[in-house]
Amino acid sequence: MARRRGGATSRFTGEIPKSAGKSATSAVVWLCFCLLFPSAAEAGLYTATDQLLPLSPDNVEPLLINSTAAVLVEFYASWCGHCIAFSPVYKRLARDIKEWKPAVDLAAIDCAAEENRKVCTAFGIKAYPTIKFFHAYSKADSKGQSFRASTHEVWVLRHRIIDKLESHEEPWPPACPPLEPTSQAEIDSFFETNNVQHLALIFEDATSYIGREVTLDLLQFENVAVRRVLSTEEGLVTKLGVTEFPSCYLYSAGGNFTRLKVNIEARAFYSYALQALPGVRRSGKPPPVAAGVVTNHTQEPWKPFNRSRVYMADLESTLHYSLRVELAAHTVIKGGALTSLREYVSVLAKYFPGRPVVTNLLKSLNAWLQNQTGDEISYEALREILDNTAQSPNTALPEGERWVACQGSQPHFRRYPCGMWSLFHVLTVQAKDAGGTDPKEVLSAMRSYVHSFFGCRACAEHFEVMAEESLVEVDTLSSAVLWLWSRHNRVNNRLAGALSEDPNFPKVQWPSPEMCPGCHSVKDNGEHRWSQPQVLPFLMSYFSSSSILADHLEDENQILAKQREKHALLSQQRVERKAREASDSMMHPLPSQSTVQDEEEEEEEEEEEEEEEEGPRDEEEQGGERAAADEMERKKSDTNPWGKPQVEVDQGRRQARRKPRIVGLRMPELQEDIVDLDSFVYQNYKAKALQGVAATRVKQRSLQRKEERDPGPVFGLGSDLDAGLGMVGLQPLEADFELELGQQRKRLQNRELSGQRFVEEAELARWVSVLSIGFSKVDISLCVVLYFLSFTCLLAMYLFFKNRLRLRVG
Ligand SMILES: Cc1cc2nc3c(=O)[nH]c(=O)nc-3n(C[C@H](O)[C@H](O)[C@H](O)COP(=O)(O)OP(=O)(O)OC[C@H]3O[C@@H](n4cnc5c(N)ncnc54)[C@H](O)[C@@H]3O)c2cc1C
Ligand SMILES: *[C@@H]1O[C@H](CO)[C@@H](O)[C@H](O)[C@H]1NC(C)=O
Ligand SMILES: *[C@@H]1O[C@H](CO)[C@@H](O)[C@H](O)[C@H]1NC(C)=O
Ligand SMILES: *[C@@H]1O[C@H](CO)[C@@H](O)[C@H](O)[C@H]1NC(C)=O
Repeated sequence: MARRRGGATSRFTGEIPKSAGKSATSAVVWLCFCLLFPSAAEAGLYTATDQLLPLSPDNVEPLLINSTAAVLVEFYASWCGHCIAFSPVYKRLARDIKEWKPAVDLAAIDCAAEENRKVCTAFGIKAYPTIKFFHAYSKADSKGQSFRASTHEVWVLRHRIIDKLESHEEPWPPACPPLEPTSQAEIDSFFETNNVQHLALIFEDATSYIGREVTLDLLQFENVAVRRVLSTEEGLVTKLGVTEFPSCYLYSAGGNFTRLKVNIEARAFYSYALQALPGVRRSGKPPPVAAGVVTNHTQEPWKPFNRSRVYMADLESTLHYSLRVELAAHTVIKGGALTSLREYVSVLAKYFPGRPVVTNLLKSLNAWLQNQTGDEISYEALREILDNTAQSPNTALPEGERWVACQGSQPHFRRYPCGMWSLFHVLTVQAKDAGGTDPKEVLSAMRSYVHSFFGCRACAEHFEVMAEESLVEVDTLSSAVLWLWSRHNRVNNRLAGALSEDPNFPKVQWPSPEMCPGCHSVKDNGEHRWSQPQVLPFLMSYFSSSSILADHLEDENQILAKQREKHALLSQQRVERKAREASDSMMHPLPSQSTVQDEEEEEEEEEEEEEEEEGPRDEEEQGGERAAADEMERKKSDTNPWGKPQVEVDQGRRQARRKPRIVGLRMPELQEDIVDLDSFVYQNYKAKALQGVAATRVKQRSLQRKEERDPGPVFGLGSDLDAGLGMVGLQPLEADFELELGQQRKRLQNRELSGQRFVEEAELARWVSVLSIGFSKVDISLCVVLYFLSFTCLLAMYLFFKNRLRLRVG
């Protein structure tokens, strides 16, 4: 199976023009899928998501020889047409008898693969496909029994497996329950020898397989036993008054018989009903607790809910987790991931049936994302929108998780993945209700999101395999709804009994007959069949926006109030931080970090700034020089945040901006007299200065580079100050003192210098601003700093020469 997927991939790549019809970008995304899932390029007919044992020379012995379960093995060649045609049947069979695994397992091996030839030759395989049945405890020289596979009917194969099991010679597979019909004598003494709560008796004709199938279906369940009773077993038939064959009766320890109520007397209905009996649980799982009194292993109090409803609280929690937690792992989002994010948010903005507050937020997030013209965004920038930092009215995404129908009996069960499924079911249904134009829109978005971001990587791979296999079949909005439902059921089938299954919420093929009786029907031969004309309306109503319950939702006003509070706190912190920064630049300069910190303080101006900075940089750093400089920087160490490739610095700038803030918050309390000064800086640090930053970042960068190449002194006055310098077109001071000291110390000194003079400069600048010259006060104050510096310098030189002169004279 590891070698599978090749066929599917080539089929898939063949579809690219079709799926990518919309735009070139989606073609890129599809292509990314192929590239990022290299396993998808391997050959073979089965994947890890099929419930089959993949055989290889390494595992053939341990799996086939002396195994406790019987094994059915398909020897196939991936190029053979019959094998390709048979593979979906074999997969369906594997899903169908998944519960039988402890007694009989399915396996497959690709004889076309070079490395497997020896194995296939050893078993004497000459034609494909060949299926062989290996008894439990097969000997090493066993070649297996022949097994006719001349059919594409799963039920025929299933019956043949039962025949093989029944004719099983000793030793009998230990996990396999007795399959022969029972007698009154056995039943009378049953509870004396068996410690189970329920005995299910299936009355049937001798030719019927239902009793044996249901027995095997419940193989992995405890507290229930199943026996078949033939219609010829007169004593029991008359005792219970059985008139219908097949039919199922429950026999309890007290000697009571009750008819098992099912909609249709067929295997699937018996199995559903018996697996859901009180006290019945999957082996190895803790006993389930009756709904409502679920034990409290989680920290939050248990919220009662209706198991057949969708809750908005789950959907909002999913959005919160997805956008604020899962995405946050990606500090910079670019390339395919950015396209995925755009698709996802666009679908959310279009179809999420939320409260106005939430839909407003999704819409603004979508608008913002669509407006981002760069190749990448930082998560921090996205977060500003998510948290509505701009304080748009009536816009918010509630913070935190409040799981309701997705509560788990343990903190590691259900929750987010459950919410994810629910969210996308709701979205496919909404898209159909809203009459979307692209049938694949929601599913493609889900596929890309899961591929790029879903934290469970194994899940993402499995989902991708499914999408690759059959998403192309989706051609209407209805088929999109049904596709997701049926794939979800595949996952349920695979995960039933898995470690991740919450014992209180066993994975069943959904919806159960109890939930939607009309969804289930049988074919003429008694095989279960989903009645799709019934399933679709069921899904449409189950996931429709009007049936989503609003219980346990946080109040809208409360959310907005919280958001306002948070915003106020943030603004306050920002002001305080500003104060600290100013004090830092005077007292405790933080070297390179604070350089990054201040650059883009005002979020509102980010956009403008971003655009502006593109221009001059391109003008100034042209051609080879720029490339060479970038190259040089690429070689620099990572310890210096500027030592990254320039491109990356640009990318990481926004995210880098945050860190210093935290640092800033941890700084010691500010000194009193600085507050005034700070508010002065804050007031004056407006668009003008920002433009200055943008226009001169180039200069700053070239300064920075210079600094890296030859560790000479820099201004290091904090970026706003640096920017001011740049604006008035000053070049860095020449390295005329203490070359041997590290840069940081020099910056420190520079800052101390500037700090001492800052107050005076402020005064002066205030005067200048009264005159309303085009420069900002900061700029002016910088001039003054420099003026002062050069003055000191000249003074020093003057004194020095004067001294020397005096000496000489002396
Ligand atoms: C895309 C994706 C892939 C995943 N792949 C894996 C994987 O490979 N391995 C793994 O261990 N876990 C995987 N998971 C997680 C797993 O599927 C479950 O979500 C998780 O175990 C929680 O299960 P649950 O009991 O809450 O029910 P879920 O399966 O999460 O279902 C949530 C709710 O949806 C409803 N529902 C159930 N079935 C259907 C259906 N067929 N159609 C419509 N609604 C339905 C039910 O009300 C159910 O309670 C995946 C999750 C996602 C979203
Ligand atoms: C087969 O397994 C049984 C028990 O599982 C063991 O006693 C026996 O030695 C094994 N035989 C071989 C050939 O490995
Ligand atoms: C569950 O536990 C939490 C804390 O341990 C408690 O606050 C809560 O009330 C409990 N809920 C129930 C239903 O017992
Ligand atoms: C749960 O919801 C279903 C479907 O709307 C409804 O029929 C049922 O009565 C509800 N159950 C409870 C306990 O409210």
